[in-house]
Amino acid sequence: MSTAIVTGAAKGIGRGIAAAFATAGWSVVLVDRDAAPLAETAKGLGANVATLTGDVAERKTNDAAVRLATEKFGRIDAVVGNAGVTLPKLIDETSGDEFDRLFAINVKALMYLAQAAHRALAQTRGSLTVIASKTGLVAQRNSPIYVATKGAAVQLARALALDWATEGIRVNAVCPGIVDTPMLKEFIDAMPDPAASRREHEAAQPLGRLATPAECAAAVLFLSSPAASFITGVALPVDGGFTAE
Ligand SMILES: NC(=O)c1ccc[n+]([C@@H]2O[C@H](COP(=O)([O-])OP(=O)(O)OC[C@H]3O[C@@H](n4cnc5c(N)ncnc54)[C@H](O)[C@@H]3O)[C@@H](O)[C@H]2O)c1
Repeated sequence: MSTAIVTGAAKGIGRGIAAAFATAGWSVVLVDRDAAPLAETAKGLGANVATLTGDVAERKTNDAAVRLATEKFGRIDAVVGNAGVTLPKLIDETSGDEFDRLFAINVKALMYLAQAAHRALAQTRGSLTVIASKTGLVAQRNSPIYVATKGAAVQLARALALDWATEGIRVNAVCPGIVDTPMLKEFIDAMPDPAASRREHEAAQPLGRLATPAECAAAVLFLSSPAASFITGVALPVDGGFTAE
């Protein structure tokens, strides 16, 4: 049975990714710092699910996730670095500590995850998928450090795709547009008029609506599957056409 590790699986896109893998018959190891909603995600996904509570910005969490997957399920075929946080602040309002914390969660955690899973992925000729953002491809206003972390995530995926190609490990980025999740609510609630901001976000998408976590998860499942066996180093927008303009 194929096995996936999904970080940030307690809510939003990560919860959708966990459900997509489990529905497709994969075993899943779910990682998040938030224990109660993580247990909620695991409920109903069947017997082949394990959870780990921890901060992905710490190396030990990523090492423990790989150990858990190997011990419990015997192999790792796909690793998904999804955990992430936003920072809706202009640059003049941003402290050095906030910058460091954002890069630790959105970028450094991907390095720890990749390092922890490298050998196991080489054994299965598996894949790593990072959840970046359309803001890794085009910029947006009001969150410059978040945008910078997502640009870094896209380039990390491309660079690792090259470095790991000879080992048969594929590495890709999924670049969601605006997805209806708790993170989006946090971002919109920080705006002066949240209701107007939500309407603006919907109207700004060529498809005229926000994405669902399941729509992002479908792209991750595809990139993790044998159907994508010759796809590596791509940054796949799942953005309703936003970056086509
Ligand atoms: N929602 C969007 O519109 C959107 C758009 C583009 C990209 N993304 C990206 O998708 C990913 C998921 O976003 P979401 O909208 O589902 O967010 P969310 O806030 O709804 O869920 C994120 C999950 O990650 C977990 N998490 C955060 N920091 C963590 C840490 N340090 N250690 C362990 N777990 C941690 C949270 O507890 C939460 O369960 C993020 O990387 C985000 O940047 C989201």
